[in-house]
Amino acid sequence: MINIPNHIAIIMDGNGRWAAKRNLPRIVGHQQGVKAVRTVVKACSALGVKTLTLFAFSSENKHRSSDEVSLLFKLFLTALTLEVAKLNKHNVRLKIIGDLSLFPDNIQKTAFKAQAQLADNTGLTLVIAANYGGQWDIAQAAKQAAKAALKGDISPEDITIEGFSQYLSLANEPAVDLLIRSSGELRISNFLLWDIAYSEFYFTDTFWPDFDEAELNKAIESFNHRDRRFGTRKEN
Ligand code: IPE
Ligand code: IPE
Ligand code: MG
Repeated sequence: MINIPNHIAIIMDGNGRWAAKRNLPRIVGHQQGVKAVRTVVKACSALGVKTLTLFAFSSENKHRSSDEVSLLFKLFLTALTLEVAKLNKHNVRLKIIGDLSLFPDNIQKTAFKAQAQLADNTGLTLVIAANYGGQWDIAQAAKQAAKAALKGDISPEDITIEGFSQYLSLANEPAVDLLIRSSGELRISNFLLWDIAYSEFYFTDTFWPDFDEAELNKAIESFNHRDRRFGTRKEN
């Protein structure tokens, strides 16, 4: 029987190169990337994955050209607006993580509304990481913990691994079992840091717009051949 990961996280990379290969503007790659998101969300939902975390926009991506950044913002807003009904139909819960203060007001409002509309759903939890950085996440968690200690709500002794985890963006989500990165890059690019302590990694050369159900199945198949030891050894 195939073991379906509880939590899959994906660095959706290669939209620009997908477009460049076809002599198309980068934004067309991003548009096609949204289609791949739809496919993967549907497939994960059908497989019974509990949480799917997608890296949509990193803390560093804001340093791209202002044209690309504003087109990405527009695409994010359109996708958020158009997809909510479909996500609802599939019983998907939505959670957006990252420093949303960067985004224009209308995006922040739409994001807040979409999360509220889908809050009671009990199927797949779809986490979208937007203006997210793993280092930012740890720093914002430390800030919350420090504030709680100053207020006297916790004592420094409460800052254990479990206690501190509660302040991170993925608190309450299962541990990340499988981390996928498309487009052939072999790095984390400041995605989840704390949360991938024992994740299995899967890298594919496929550019994100070409990532489909078959690619997802290949990643899950590879995950099923991993011997996850978590630092222990089986007794003979
Ligand atoms: C990933 O594709 C999407 C975002 C980072 C927003 P890229 O835009 O990084 O595509 P490449 O890496 O240039 O091909
Ligand atoms: C990581 O991809 C961020 C997302 C996929 C959203 P990048 O394309 O920004 O990463 P680098 O610059 O190649 O490390
Ligand atoms: Mg890239």
